[in-house]
Order: sequence, then structure tokens, then C-alpha cells
Amino acid sequence: MQTDLSKKFGIDYPIFGFTPSEHVAAAISRAGGLGVLGCVRFNDPDELDATLTWMDDNTDGKPYGVDIVMPAKVPTEGSAVDLDKLIPAEHRAFVDRTLTELGVPPLGDDAEHATGVLGWLHSVARSHVDVALAHRPALIANALGSPPKDVIDLAHEHGVPVAALAGAVDHAKRHVENGVDIVIAQGYEAGGHTGEIASMVLWPEIVDALGDSASVLAAGGIGSGRQIAAALALGASGVWMGSYWLTTSEYKLGGADKGPTAIQRALLAATSADTVRSRIYSGKPARLLKTKWTDAWAKPDAPAPLPMPLQNILVSEAHQRISAGSDPEVVAMPAGQIVGRMNEIRPVAEIIAELVAEYDRTVDRLDAAR
Ligand SMILES: Cc1cc2nc3c(=O)[nH]c(=O)nc-3n(C[C@H](O)[C@H](O)[C@H](O)COP(=O)(O)O)c2cc1C
Repeated sequence: MQTDLSKKFGIDYPIFGFTPSEHVAAAISRAGGLGVLGCVRFNDPDELDATLTWMDDNTDGKPYGVDIVMPAKVPTEGSAVDLDKLIPAEHRAFVDRTLTELGVPPLGDDAEHATGVLGWLHSVARSHVDVALAHRPALIANALGSPPKDVIDLAHEHGVPVAALAGAVDHAKRHVENGVDIVIAQGYEAGGHTGEIASMVLWPEIVDALGDSASVLAAGGIGSGRQIAAALALGASGVWMGSYWLTTSEYKLGGADKGPTAIQRALLAATSADTVRSRIYSGKPARLLKTKWTDAWAKPDAPAPLPMPLQNILVSEAHQRISAGSDPEVVAMPAGQIVGRMNEIRPVAEIIAELVAEYDRTVDRLDAAR
């Protein structure tokens, strides 16, 4: 399984894994893929710095990437407090009422209260880039648009290629015009922010539209070696997977050290029909696991979600309370349709070995069918 991108990054397999967990990202890189750490959750640059030092020390010298979020269109500045004032009382009352109805316990007295994900403010995302460039990222990826030109230039000055997610051909073309090196073609079935075109249609569309101007990674719905073979057959130079790593043994964010967390139990039980695309997580359409929390927001008495970044500021403490709880029926979590095939907790290395073995068998089978 070698492509232009696996050769460019010096990795064994062109399997790029997005994850908010440094433990998962490091394990992906150690297993021969390229682990990409989601930075949006780091409101404190010192914490990101310490986490990337840990990545430097725990990846056996193998390359890893970072993912930042610089949306093309959101308020770029403002403190959490300023932004707080823009949240209507009706929305706050709905969130409080819903948490009570769903039996979500309040935070303990000593808990630090979440301020909302500020990582998608440009000022914070720029600090992520500055911190990351002092380490050894092999890739900087951006969700929700092309990074600003000066950020792309800065990455290039450090010899770091830039990737950006695209859910439509025109976004992909714009990324390349703006200087992005690798386009991640993200189909509708993906977890997190997603457009409206399915992977099967989108991947070859973007590959054909870009030609030789940029390499394409296929994202959205991948969880098997057969799907990786399909992605490469459709012209992609590798795959970018997100949801599948949520049920790995290394994924520990917000959970206990032993046994699956409530979030993982919910993911293990879900079928491919148990996701919903909604604006309630961030203000922009994102695919989430369908639970009593998403159901409450779909009821006629629910208010319309606020624009980014206000919606996340509104729900961040609710997310914190839900994560601290232990009810798998009340979960607030991005997840893609591949969740239906996430049925056991396994180590990252075992998953990558299985992806590669199934890819090889698939290519052999296709070869025999010539
Ligand atoms: C829990 C979760 C959080 C995500 N957060 C981000 C993010 O912060 N930045 C980003 O570029 N993509 C994010 N994504 C999208 C992934 O990078 C990836 O494109 C997507 O998961 C691929 O589709 P799949 O879920 O079907 O594998 C997230 C996905 C998940 C499941």
C-alpha cells in the first residue's frame, strides 16, 4: 500500500488518522500511519505545547500531524465573556431544562467550568500553529476552509505541507488556489463537520477536478481495508479516518482508565443508522451520534442552534456534564455512519494491521478477477 503521499511522508501506509487524543495519534504513527492530533480543544497554548512534547517523545521518531480549525467565516476575535453576552436567555433555559429532564448531574463543586471551544477563533488557532511549528509536525491540516495565506506561507517556510478538508468540488479548487497542498475529500457520511455529497460520488469528483494540482485523501465512512482499496481505486492517494479511532483502547479522553467509557459503550451499540447531521454541536452542520441529547434538539420546542462559535459556547458546559455522566443514552459526540461497524474496543496497532491485511486480500481478489 504505497502511494505518492506515503512516500512523501515516509510512512508505511497512506492511512492518516485524525483524533483529539494524543495517545491515539501517537499509536497511529507508531503503527505506520500518520496520526494527526486535533488541537481545537486546547484553549491553553502551554497545554498544547506539553502535549506535543509528549508526542515528540512517544512516536519513535515517526512523523505526526496537527489539525487546527480556522473557519472561513466566523467572528475572528472576542473573549469567551464578550461572546457569552450574545447568547439568548431562551437558549440557556432550554439547555438547563433539557439537562434536568435527561437526568444529567451537575458538575462537582471543584470542577473547572468549560468556557467553550475557543480553538476555532483565529487568534487561538494561530497560537496552535505557532506552538506546533516549534515541534516537528509533518502536516498541518485545517477544517472548515483554507487557512489564511500567511499561515500557509509560514507552514511552507518550515517545510510543512498543508491539508484542508473539502465537502464539495468548488471548496477543493479554492483550497488549491489558496496554496493548500493536500485536499481531504470528506463525504457526507463522515463524523464531524460534513457537506451533503456522499464519499462514493465526491472522491472521484474531487480527484478529477484537481488533476495533478494536489493530492487527495479520501475521508468519510472508512473502517475497512476494502474501503481503503475502493478509495485508492477512485483515485485518492490515501485515506483520512476519524470516527474509527474512537473505539480504540488508547482513546481515553474524558473517560475512566478502565473499561469502555459511556461514550464508547454508546458507539459500540450504535448502528450505521444512528447518526444525525445537525448544527447543535458547533453551529455548523456536523454528523453526531444520535442520542437523547440530539433528539431533544430535534423537538418542535427546541430553539434553532446559534451560529459558530456561539452554539459551542452555549453547550460546552452541557457537553462537560454529559461527558462526566455515565449514561450511554445521553451522549454528545461527533461520529460518522461507520459507527455501525465499530463493535469492539481494540488497540490501534491491531486495527491498522487488519486494515492492511484486508486491503491486500482485496487487491489480490481484484487482480484475480481481471
Ligand atoms: C470526534 C470527532 C471530532 C472531529 N473533530 C475534527 C476537528 O477538530 N478538525 C477536523 O479537521 N476534523 C474533525 N473531525 C473530522 C475528522 O477529521 C474526519 O475528517 C472524519 O472523521 C472522517 O470521516 P469518518 O468519521 O467517517 O472517518 C472530527 C471527527 C470526529 C469523529
